Amino acid sequence: MSDCYILGIETTCDETSASLLKNATQIASNTVYSQIDIHKKYCGVVPELASRAHCSKIAGVIKSALGNIKPDYIAFANGPGLPGGLLVGRIAAQTLGMLFNAPVIGVNHLEGHLYACEFGENAEFKPLEFPLISLIVSGGHTELWLVKGYGRYKLLGRTRDDAAGEAFDKVAKLLGLGYPGGPQVSAQARKGNAEAIKFPRPYMRGNFEFSFSGIKTAVSYYLRDNKNISAPDVCAGFQKAVVDTLVKKTIDAAKKYKIKNIAVGGGVAANCALRADMAAACGAAGVKARFVMPSLSSDNAAMIALCAAKKIQYCKAVKNNISIKPNMVLKSWA
Ligand code: KG4
Ligand code: ZN
Repeated sequence: MSDCYILGIETTCDETSASLLKNATQIASNTVYSQIDIHKKYCGVVPELASRAHCSKIAGVIKSALGNIKPDYIAFANGPGLPGGLLVGRIAAQTLGMLFNAPVIGVNHLEGHLYACEFGENAEFKPLEFPLISLIVSGGHTELWLVKGYGRYKLLGRTRDDAAGEAFDKVAKLLGLGYPGGPQVSAQARKGNAEAIKFPRPYMRGNFEFSFSGIKTAVSYYLRDNKNISAPDVCAGFQKAVVDTLVKKTIDAAKKYKIKNIAVGGGVAANCALRADMAAACGAAGVKARFVMPSLSSDNAAMIALCAAKKIQYCKAVKNNISIKPNMVLKSWA
């Protein structure tokens, strides 16, 4: 049997990426152009600049990922995301679909972050075990899902205001640490004492919703009201408050629904404190924890191609889908 290749395209935010997935399990290529240098002086993503960068980089990124391979399917992230970037991804996917006479499959970016957890160390493929609780923590989203199987989801809760990554980015900005803030705050936190400053934990009892804007405001008040602050202690205290909240909600969800597996994906999943504390809490609760490998935690097209592979395999009627949805919400498809 000949090999099957899926070309993935990712343009939802500030990474322009294309990837070839071979036989639904092997990452044959994964080219990522990060726009960080363009956005860092603004300490956040500027949508118009992101669109322009996607326009100028997409062809080269696809060419580098594709090489001489003729893809059997084209997958692109059709939401949620910034409209300009989504349009660039769609036009590229549609054009390649016509060129190669290949079906074009739109997939949810957040589902991509979930399935990226199937790649373990060294990108070795290991299927997820269901049912599981999925925590997706990124710069734009913080969501907790009950995943019963491929394409079978129940949204348990999401953030009511800032996403966890956004809170990291804003605290980094307050401290003048640069963009993106997550890695900088995390590096500072490693040198600090997490117990020195106690920031609030927004647990919101009785549901699985999150809220991170209060912690960020507490940090800004602390910086306003105190002189000679220790940036490492502020970062460590802030990070601990965010991590405690994410861990508690995830473990509570696993207990409530009697689930024995969790998977953590998205850019913030690269955070060492989150990985360590979640692993320890899962161990204590008798739950198996899976984390996306750090190099696939932030946006990339391999996870988009992998999500399309799941649809091809498990969706009864996978069809051409090129509509883009900037505010796309998660829906079951199997
Ligand atoms: O998933 P992602 O690449 O993009 C979105 O879909 O939003 O996530 C980017 C986010 C940024 O907010 C970044 O600060 C955060 O992930 N991040 C981290 C770490 N590495 C990246 N947050 C905390 N700790 C990290 N080590
Ligand atoms: Zn993302």
